[in-house]
Amino acid sequence: MRLLILGGTRFLGRAVAAHANAMGHDVTCAARGLAGTVPHGARFIRVDRDEPEGLAPLADKEFDAVVDVSRHPGQVRRAVAALKHRVAHWTFVSTVSVYADNRTIGQRADAAPLREPTAPEIEHSTEETYGAAKVACEQAIGENAFICRAGLIVGPEDPTGRFTYWPMRLDRGGEVLVPGAPDDAVQLIDVRDLAQWIVHAAQTRLTGCFDGIGPSSTRSQLLAECADALGSSCTYTWVDRTFLESHDIRRWSGPRSLPLWLPLPEFAGFNTRDTSPARDSGLTVRTFSATARDTLSWARTAGGAVTGLTADEESAALEAWHASRPRSGAVTHEAQH
Ligand SMILES: NC(=O)c1ccc[n+]([C@@H]2O[C@H](COP(=O)([O-])OP(=O)(O)OC[C@H]3O[C@@H](n4cnc5c(N)ncnc54)[C@H](OP(=O)(O)O)[C@@H]3O)[C@@H](O)[C@H]2O)c1
Repeated sequence: MRLLILGGTRFLGRAVAAHANAMGHDVTCAARGLAGTVPHGARFIRVDRDEPEGLAPLADKEFDAVVDVSRHPGQVRRAVAALKHRVAHWTFVSTVSVYADNRTIGQRADAAPLREPTAPEIEHSTEETYGAAKVACEQAIGENAFICRAGLIVGPEDPTGRFTYWPMRLDRGGEVLVPGAPDDAVQLIDVRDLAQWIVHAAQTRLTGCFDGIGPSSTRSQLLAECADALGSSCTYTWVDRTFLESHDIRRWSGPRSLPLWLPLPEFAGFNTRDTSPARDSGLTVRTFSATARDTLSWARTAGGAVTGLTADEESAALEAWHASRPRSGAVTHEAQH
C-alpha cells in the first residue's frame, strides 16, 4: 500500500508509520515537523493543515490509504475535501471521549450516544471541547471510512507520561499509594497494538465505527501483572475518593495526580467498553506485562515523560492516610507480591 499518515511525527501516528513500514508498505507522513521525526524508512512531507491550501504539497501524489490523527474539525474537513475521493481507504483516529455517557457499563460503539458536535464554524478544538470536536471531525468524514475511537493509549513514546507513572512507581517497590478499590475497572491499549490494527484495517478495507481499546480489566490485576513483570515487591494502600480529593490529589493526569484515576460513579462505565467488535475485526492485544516492561525500558533509556505524584508527595499522602485511620480495624486493602 501507498499509505499517507496525516501526522506520523509522534506517538500513535509514528507507531502506525513504523509498523506499516515494517510490513513493507510505502509510507508518507505529512506534518509540520514540530512534534518530532518520522520513523526510519518513512518519507516526510511538510504541510501546515491550518493553512487553507496547506495540503497542496500532496496534490500530485497518489495514495491507496490515509490515516488521519487530527483533533481539529477544520483540518479534517480540508483533508477530506482534498484527498478522500482519491483514496480507497480512510482511517480517522477518534476517541472514546466522543461518548456522552461515562456512567453506563459495557457500552458498544455502534449504540452508545455521542456528545453534540462543536458548531460548524469551529475550526480548532481545545481541551474543553476535545470530545465534541472529535464528533464534528467524525461527521466531516462521512460514510465509508474506518472510525477508530481510541481509548487510553499507552506504551513506549507516550508523551503524556500518565501510564508511565505506574511502571516507574512499581519498579521502586515498597508501599504504593493506589486510588479507589482493587476491583475498579481499567481499560487501555498498547500503542503498538493499536497501530497494528490500524494498518490491518487499511489492508483489509475495514469500515465502520469501532472502539480501539483492549478488554476491560481491574486495577489490582493491572498492578499485579506489571509488578510481576518488573520483578518488584510492592504493597498496595488503597485510598478512597474522599481522601484523595481532600488532599488535593488529582484525577487522570498531570502534576499531583494519581494517574489514570477517575472518580466513581461519574466514570463507572468509562473503562468498561465492550470491545468484542474490534477483536472480531482483527484487534489483538499484548499483555500488561509486556507493555509495562517496554514502557519502563523506554522511559529509562530515552528519559521518557512521566507525570503524577512525586515520591515526596506520595510519602506525605501515605503518612496522612495512616494518621487518619483508626488504630484497630484499619481499612487499607493490601496485596503482597
Ligand atoms: N493518547 C491517548 O491516550 C489517546 C486516547 C484517545 C484518542 N487519542 C487520539 O489518538 C490520536 C493520537 O495521535 P498521535 O499520538 O499521533 O499524536 P498527536 O499529538 O495527536 O499528533 C498530532 C500530529 O498531527 C501533526 N499536526 C499537528 N498540527 C498540524 C498542522 N497544523 N499541520 C500539519 N500537521 C499537524 C503533528 O505533527 P507536527 O506538530 O509536527 O505538525 C502530529 O504528527 C489523536 O487523534 C488523539 O485524539 C489519543
